[in-house]
Amino acid sequence: MARLPWVLFLIMSLIATALAYKFIFSGKTEVAPDGRTTILLEDSEQTFFLNEMRNFLIAVQQITDGIEKDDMQQIALAARKVGSADLGHVPAGLTGKLPLATKKMGLATHKAFDQMAMDAESLGDKEHSLSQLNKILSTCTACHALYRIR
Ligand code: HEC
Repeated sequence: MARLPWVLFLIMSLIATALAYKFIFSGKTEVAPDGRTTILLEDSEQTFFLNEMRNFLIAVQQITDGIEKDDMQQIALAARKVGSADLGHVPAGLTGKLPLATKKMGLATHKAFDQMAMDAESLGDKEHSLSQLNKILSTCTACHALYRIR
């Protein structure tokens, strides 16, 4: 008789682990026909996600323009717009649906833009900004190669 609570405890622990795995590591996903992982989102979350992405691309364009014109203020301003302050607006449900790897890459990208903004102001070295942008772009392409949304 005394065994029953232990069995229940074990089953509950397994369920908790499975749920933790689902929400923290895998997110809400399925395999896409092209082999990438599809992240399954609600329409409003998709709209938010893609809007964030286009903002990333706007920042990349503004930063490249700033580098060409040697305008460190423009670089700092554009990078800061997509820095981690931007994360405050993420809809609550979205985070649970994103696989851990994408959250890490997303966070790393926002933080790298923070660093770029600070360095642009403190160092005033556009070659340094260019090299930071180059690194950021490799995270953009790495994530795009692995994930899509639907
Ligand atoms: C954490 C993963 C991830 C990172 C990092 C990331 N993206 Fe994306 N991006 C995606 C996904 C997923 C899509 C949707 C692609 C699809 O469904 O085919 C997307 C779509 C886009 C789109 C299309 C937007 C639209 O309206 O259709 C643009 C532009 C874009 N990303 C730019 C960028 C840029 C620039 C960066 C880097 C500064 C970046 N992304 C970083 C995952 C990421």
